[in-house]
Amino acid sequence: MRLPEKGLDRKALFERLETYRERDVDWRSGRVFGYVFDPGAEAMEVGKEAYAMFLTENGLDFTSFPSLMSLENDLVGMARAHLGGDEAVVGNFTSGGTESIILAVKTARDYARATRPQVGEPEMILPVTAHAAFHKAAHYLGVKVVQTGVNPNSFRADVAEMRRAVGPRTILLVGSAPSYTHGVVDPIEQMGALAWEKGILLHVDACMGGFLLPYLRRLGEPVPPFDLSVPGVTSISMDLHKYAYTPKGASIILYRDKELRRHQIFACSRWTGYTMVNNTIQSSKSGGPMAAAWAVLQFIGDEGYLELARRKLEAVRHVAEGIEAIPDLSLLTRPDMPLVAFSSETLDVFHLIDEMNGRGWYIQPALSYENSPKHVHLSISASNVAWVDRFLEDLRACVDIVKKTPPMEPAAVVGAGAEGVDLGDLGDEEVSALMEAAGISGGGLPSRMAGINDVLDGLPPEVRERLLTAYTNNAFVPDPEED
Ligand SMILES: Cc1ncc(COP(=O)(O)O)c(C=O)c1O
Repeated sequence: MRLPEKGLDRKALFERLETYRERDVDWRSGRVFGYVFDPGAEAMEVGKEAYAMFLTENGLDFTSFPSLMSLENDLVGMARAHLGGDEAVVGNFTSGGTESIILAVKTARDYARATRPQVGEPEMILPVTAHAAFHKAAHYLGVKVVQTGVNPNSFRADVAEMRRAVGPRTILLVGSAPSYTHGVVDPIEQMGALAWEKGILLHVDACMGGFLLPYLRRLGEPVPPFDLSVPGVTSISMDLHKYAYTPKGASIILYRDKELRRHQIFACSRWTGYTMVNNTIQSSKSGGPMAAAWAVLQFIGDEGYLELARRKLEAVRHVAEGIEAIPDLSLLTRPDMPLVAFSSETLDVFHLIDEMNGRGWYIQPALSYENSPKHVHLSISASNVAWVDRFLEDLRACVDIVKKTPPMEPAAVVGAGAEGVDLGDLGDEEVSALMEAAGISGGGLPSRMAGINDVLDGLPPEVRERLLTAYTNNAFVPDPEED
């Protein structure tokens, strides 16, 4: 794109913006099981209005915008009470789960530097189900990941294996409440006891569950202890832009006390400009997401969230039973949250996803990793609830269709496209050959993704990562015709 010589009129530019959205998933339809947590029209409007009201306020400097500090302290106070924290607990508002997690890992690293300088190269212990954001944090911050396994039936972290993995360089243990993939809460009490005994930190990733799990418990669900009420938990992250239904750009990170949180804050006075002190990764940032989060929480309120939780609980039970009643499909495990993972031994679930997409649904593919097979993931939220019967009906019909398509043999797909490719030493040419085999060489994406996902599934994770990087590197290039 080039700047227009003269500014466009409002109508024309908004029309153009609208055309950009034409190929997006239709999240308003209620048929999209992920990405968007839609609280319904009224709460959405409240969020938008508050967002617009604080759009221009800048979180760079709380002395100039004390309004943002007050909103942030309100949100942290709410979160602390929600997650079993006492008055010593402090925290901050961040842009999302990933930022909260990166900050938790940075804090653990810098706390270890201050209190255990002999550690040298720090390590953190992650169950294989811990979110990819921890790997990103490790990559950015120079912390080594030590991965541990999960129980093959419940997919909960194996704490005995974590214990065996603890060494002199361990600075942090990680548990999920719940894991995104399987929707199960790890044995946080056991992890807390281990962290306490070894004198190391424990972060609970409650980005998905932190807001909802207390409501599910109030509805009688057997939610295991997972929050700051558990001894040994030293930090916890909770996203508001998921099951609290606030507009995106909203998460909370909490620490046991200020002594720990101190290591999160970055101050710099070694340059010629303004004095900089940041709680979070971003420096200049809009007040919009925070004001919107504050407003939506106030608008929906405790009773509103309890009712939303009740509806999701009914929906997830119904979906889980419906899937189990289809002989070709099976749940990977019984989830503690409205997150459903299912797979099949008789048909290719990636074809099933394509078939469902063709009928207007969005359901998410997940590749196999360690003892978790390739599967379909559903994050059920309020807007999906009214659609679960139709969903199951279409799922049954699509299973019947896909059963007639022979399952893809991933090794054969990869072999055909990647003959002679040395997977251990991938140069640009080898990456191009594999991308061609996967059907993604032309830049755009085919309407059916099963072939691509099957190729990726047949490759080792580091090769998948090379391909995904190459694909993304090619995709984000301005269109020369637009110049
Ligand atoms: C358990 C868990 N942790 C962290 C994240 C990352 O959150 P975000 O996408 O807001 O950065 C997610 C996202 O789905 C998640 O499910």
